[in-house]
Amino acid sequence: MRCKKCHEKAVIGLPRHNAAFCKPCFNEFVHDQVARAIKSERMFDPKDRILVAVSGGKDSLALWDILLKLGYRADALYVDLGIAGYSEKSCEKVERFADTVGKAHNASLLIHTVQEEEGAGIRELADLLHRPTCSACGTIKRYQFNRAAVEHDYDVMATGHNLDDEAARLLGNVLHWQDEYLDKQSPSLPASVEGFAKKVKPLYRLAEREIAAYAVLNRIDYIVEECPMAKGSKMLLYKEVLNRLETESPGTKQAFYWGFLEKQAKTQPAPASMAEKDQATLHPCATCGQPTTAEICSYCKMMARAKASTPH
Ligand code: AMP
Ligand code: FES
Ligand code: ZN
Repeated sequence: MRCKKCHEKAVIGLPRHNAAFCKPCFNEFVHDQVARAIKSERMFDPKDRILVAVSGGKDSLALWDILLKLGYRADALYVDLGIAGYSEKSCEKVERFADTVGKAHNASLLIHTVQEEEGAGIRELADLLHRPTCSACGTIKRYQFNRAAVEHDYDVMATGHNLDDEAARLLGNVLHWQDEYLDKQSPSLPASVEGFAKKVKPLYRLAEREIAAYAVLNRIDYIVEECPMAKGSKMLLYKEVLNRLETESPGTKQAFYWGFLEKQAKTQPAPASMAEKDQATLHPCATCGQPTTAEICSYCKMMARAKASTPH
């Protein structure tokens, strides 16, 4: 197998692009896909300050690495969820990366610890609420990401969601016809009201396997295990189904998700009218001040319920 660009020996084949690349040309391909995502979705400019949410996994560490190498001003946020045996390890990976690559680019790392802020880790909070850990976790992460970006004055908040994540989420939303979630499945969501950070997913053009290859080839030390709470989740099932389809017909995932984005761009109301709709329905949470459609936001409601059911 030879590199499509320089004809040296290839290290990875990309059936969906009908191509193979050597290491330098593959790195160039990956950087180029991210640069295209940033430009075509108007995610941010070189002057913007970016906060990357890093979990210690391959996607988010690769994203931080790529943004720094492309010359962007990108700091990182790690949310310590307090999952015994998992959070310690993932935090270690993030800190090591911050101390090496981050430091070399003058980038800093913020750490938010749920246990310190709320008096309990995510597992205990979910138990108190009788909610599946992953769903409580989703609410906490979204809240923490937004709050950190707004409080520290970042222009944009970036996550490491990749093509596989977005295609799997789209499949789930379509299977259940969750229209309101479909509207929010864009890789770039504007800061429509005060208190909401702009949110972007610069890896949406890259498949999980391509990012894993990038991380390995560039010696990014990441946590390989999935979160223990994710076992048996619907998302993993959707990813498996899409991987079967991808093996049979390379390009299925990108045709599905990118095709959706193209259709959405033609039919969705202009960003200005979406912002108007948000401005009409969102107002500050009575407890924490973050924008919400209810009187109290879902994070504050969740924490109040958890506190009320804490044994005295
Ligand atoms: P997940 O929801 O676990 O698939 O993660 C999606 C993205 O959310 C990752 O690529 C990260 O950007 C971010 N993320 C997940 N967990 C954390 C965490 N504990 N701290 C900071 N960012 C996270
Ligand atoms: Fe949230 Fe696993 S990362 S429950
Ligand atoms: Zn609130």
